[in-house]
Amino acid sequence: MKKRSDDSPEGVSRRHFLKGAGAAAAVVTVAKIPSVTEASQEVSDDPVIVGPGSISIRLKINGEIREVEAPPSTTLLDLLREHHAMTGTKRVCDRGSCGACTVLLDGRTIDSCSMLAIDAVGREVTTVEGIGTPENLTDLQKAFVEKDALQCGFCTPGMVVSCTALLNQNPTPDRDQIRQGIAGNICRCGTYQNIIEAVEHASRKGGK
Ligand code: FES
Ligand code: FES
Repeated sequence: MKKRSDDSPEGVSRRHFLKGAGAAAAVVTVAKIPSVTEASQEVSDDPVIVGPGSISIRLKINGEIREVEAPPSTTLLDLLREHHAMTGTKRVCDRGSCGACTVLLDGRTIDSCSMLAIDAVGREVTTVEGIGTPENLTDLQKAFVEKDALQCGFCTPGMVVSCTALLNQNPTPDRDQIRQGIAGNICRCGTYQNIIEAVEHASRKGGK
């Protein structure tokens, strides 16, 4: 599985993000549209223009519909962390190169720092908070603990999200496939070997 969705059929890519960011900047002089909803995402000859001020952004996050007021230029990462207090998703590089901000969009991994929140309207966002809880860890999360697959832990939420996506797609990955699955996630502490063992462990248990 390839991280960063430049090859995504949904077209969530750095190029797409930059285009979106450009569009968000372009709306500075344009009049208001109060909210971004699923309906406004439908293809139309009469495109909806939003901003420049805050608008209502309604997203499905971890199975729950959540709505906040935020500028249309808000990234998905900022929306999660600053507006929904979901700080499990980490900001490290803020430029799509480390994977610390990985979340699932319709089940596929994306870097939430490189996507506008309004581009996630009508899609299913899953953060690390939606994958197990401290009281009810997934088999993969338990395996991270058992195999000591972290040091500082800063990359861990993104790693867990990427490995969860990998096991969802391929419950029995080999080592090369695991390496590929976490290729977009950087661990500065160098715990890759333990992470690979954790994924293998979870896989043997038939879990995710
Ligand atoms: S913070 Fe998003 S890829 Fe590094
Ligand atoms: S455990 Fe420190 S960056 Fe991965």
